[in-house]
Formats: sequence, C-alpha cells, structure tokens
Amino acid sequence: MSDPVDSRSSLSDAPTPEPASGHKLTRRGFFAGLGMTGAASVLAACSSADDSAASAGNAGADSGASIRKIDFDGPHQAGIQEDSQTHALVVAFDLKRDGLPSGGLKQNLTRLMRIWTGDARSMTQGKTALADLEHELTVAPQNLTITVGWGPKLIEEVGLLGDAPSWVKKNLDGLPKFKGDKLNDDFGAADVVLQICGDDLTAVSHAARVLTRGGRDYATPKWTQRGFVDSPTGETPRNLLGFKDGTAIPRKEEEYNEFIWDDQGGSAMVVRRIVFDMPAWEQLDRKSREVVFGRHVDTGAPIGGNDEFDPVDLNKAGDDGLPLIDERSHVGITAGEGTHIRRRAYNWDNEVTPLGNSGLIFICFQNDPDKAFTPLQKRLAEKDRLNKWITHVGSAVFWVLPGTQHGAYWGQKILEG
Ligand code: HEM
Repeated sequence: MSDPVDSRSSLSDAPTPEPASGHKLTRRGFFAGLGMTGAASVLAACSSADDSAASAGNAGADSGASIRKIDFDGPHQAGIQEDSQTHALVVAFDLKRDGLPSGGLKQNLTRLMRIWTGDARSMTQGKTALADLEHELTVAPQNLTITVGWGPKLIEEVGLLGDAPSWVKKNLDGLPKFKGDKLNDDFGAADVVLQICGDDLTAVSHAARVLTRGGRDYATPKWTQRGFVDSPTGETPRNLLGFKDGTAIPRKEEEYNEFIWDDQGGSAMVVRRIVFDMPAWEQLDRKSREVVFGRHVDTGAPIGGNDEFDPVDLNKAGDDGLPLIDERSHVGITAGEGTHIRRRAYNWDNEVTPLGNSGLIFICFQNDPDKAFTPLQKRLAEKDRLNKWITHVGSAVFWVLPGTQHGAYWGQKILEG
C-alpha cells in the first residue's frame, strides 16, 4: 500500500516522502505536483488565503463584533462545556483496515489525529486548513468547535485499553441494551467520532468536508447526524415537542470537575438517536404534555413553580394532596441528575412526511457512563411516561480525548506513551 501519510497527495502526482510533521510536507507535496506556473499561482492564492484568514481572525479578535471564536487548545476539548451552538454535525467514521501490517492501525490512527488536529485547530480559529482552497468558508468560524472521540473497540484493537478510563473496557460492545430500544446499526458504534458544532451552518458543513477529505486515506464516514437548536430570544432552546431542553445542566466549574471530566481531562460521549411519534403526541392536550415532562411548557418551570430555574421539589403536593410532579414524569425520574451529565441535545428532522420525521439527538458527556447515563437510562426505559411517544434507534459511546496544549495533536500523549 502506498504511504497514506499524505492524505492529500492524490492532488499531486509527485511521490510524497514520509513526513516528520504531516502538514508542512503535505503542502509541499501538493505544490510539487503542479507545473511551475500552476504552483506559483496556487502558492500565491494559498498564502493570500492564509494571510487574509489570519488578518480576518485578528480583526475579529480586535473588533469582537462579527467573528466569534472558541479556543481550541486547553485542558479539555471544546464543544462540551460551552453553550450549545445552533448547529451540530456528528460524523462517525470507521478506520480502514484492509492490507494493514500489524501495528498499522495504530500508526494510521496517529496520522489521522495529526492531520485532523492541525486542520481543526486552524478552522476553529478562522484560519484555512491545509490545502483548502475555499478559505472564505473558514474566515468566520462563528463559535465552531470540533470534538473528537474514539470508540471502545478501536481503543482495544490498538492496544490502548490500559491508557483509557476503566469504563471503556466495560463497554467494548457499546452501552447495554435498554427496554424499548429499537437500535439500528446505521447509528451505532464506530471507531472515531467528530462532533462539529457552530453558529454558521456553512462553516460547520465545510469543516466536515475538510476533515473527511483530509482523513480519507485512513477513515471512511459511517454515519452522519445533523441537528439544530435555536434560541432567537436567548432563552433555553426548545425541542420539537415544545419544551425548553437544557435547563438543568452543570454550570459550575466544580460540577464539571466532579462529574464531567475524567482523570485525564477527557470525557465519555453518549449519542442516542431518538425518534418522536408526532401524530400520537399531538393527540395530547397541553396539560397532559406537561404531566409527561413535569414542567410547564411556557416558562419551563417545574409544575407548580413560576421560574424555569426554580428547584424541582418532588414532594410538593397540590390541593388534592397528590404530588404536583408525577413520579413517572420525565423530570420526576431524572430530577437531581441534571448536573451529573452535560446534556447537549440537538433537534433533528428529515423530509416532511404526514407522520412527521423528527426527534432528538440526545448527546451527553460525563466522566463515567456506568455511573451516569446507564443507570439513569435504565430507570427512564422502565418507567418514563415519555416512552409512549419516543423510540431510541441509535446508540454509540466514545471516549472524548483530553484537550490539547502547546501544539500537541489529539491523543498524542496516549499514542506516544
Ligand atoms: C426524546 C428524548 C428526551 C427528551 C425530549 C427530553 C427532554 C427533557 C426536558 C424537556 C427536560 C426538562 C428541562 C431540562 O432540564 O432540560 C429534561 C430534563 C432532563 N433529562 Fe431529558 N429528554 C430526553 C431524553 C433524556 C435521556 C435519554 C436522558 C438520560 C438518560 C435524559 C436526562 C435528563 C436529565 C438528567 C434532565 C434534568 C433533570 C433535572 O435535574 O431537573 N433525558 N429532558
């Protein structure tokens, strides 16, 4: 097999030497394949692209008005703790294995992480990714974040189970199956995931394309989930059943340290694809819908309360002596767990059909799914009133690697030991 390090070398006919640092040589290989005139003009175009992107980024940092960036580097990856952006594109990939010598998979994973980290670092900061000729699509990242995770099976296959948190080896075959699950492998386990979020859908889509193209020698896309949440008024966004979704989440640093980040600064990402039965849901009147959730539709307050952020009191009774919040309501079951997982759910919809075709991409982060998502979902699957109108059709879990610092690539410490 030809050396796949230079994933973009097929742009060039020139043989590509083994790079010490993937990015620089790749760019050289790319130019080497063009005739002198072509090389010169592309070089000019690329450097002006880089310059204008960089200056646009700086201008954004100065004016702060139109260009919005979220830091890429830090102890934790971006795309978890920050407020949810408007759009999400979650893409799962499987690594190519055909014809690889022993040890080749780990080597390719390393190459993929190097390429992706460089490109993700650039694009999230408003700079052009390597060999990207569409630099206009990256100058305004608008809070673009790109978060990577590895699937448990891949971690085992590349011999890194001992370096990963202990939940990984207990979930090699994915999360346990729950009552009512109708799982479809189309949205199931995969080797690697990219969660790409941002407030500009074009930038999000472009980032997905750049990364898919950049990694094409090593990884093939397996599934894609597109989601949106919008809050023009600045309030907590609503899901497509009409309720504010994202009220009770961790907001304090201590909560993130205790429940969301693992010892290395990583996290566990659960992705559940959920389908709504809209015609059946629409048979319910508003009051019944509130009983199902345990919250008011308009304010998002717990039933009996006035404000969205009023504490949920499951013991509070109405005039009839019965609890105001039904114990089998969604919040009746989940209350108190809100700060233990960072929910980052996105709405999805597909073609419009008479039956409706929509639901929720339930994404949550926690340091140990065996302590957070799994026991909670077990309870929900057993008794949540909401189950009558929802079906879980996809399930995947990934170890989100610790953040990068000082120019490192994703997973460097783990891969290099
Ligand atoms: C279609 C599926 C789901 C919908 C539509 C949904 C919707 C909601 C809504 C509207 C709330 C109340 C507002 C808020 O705090 O954000 C809520 C709360 C919550 N949900 Fe869900 N949810 C779904 C699935 C899940 C799943 C699968 C889990 C975890 C296994 C979960 C865990 C929670 C938790 C922990 C809370 C916060 C409870 C609290 O502390 O008050 N939800 N959800």
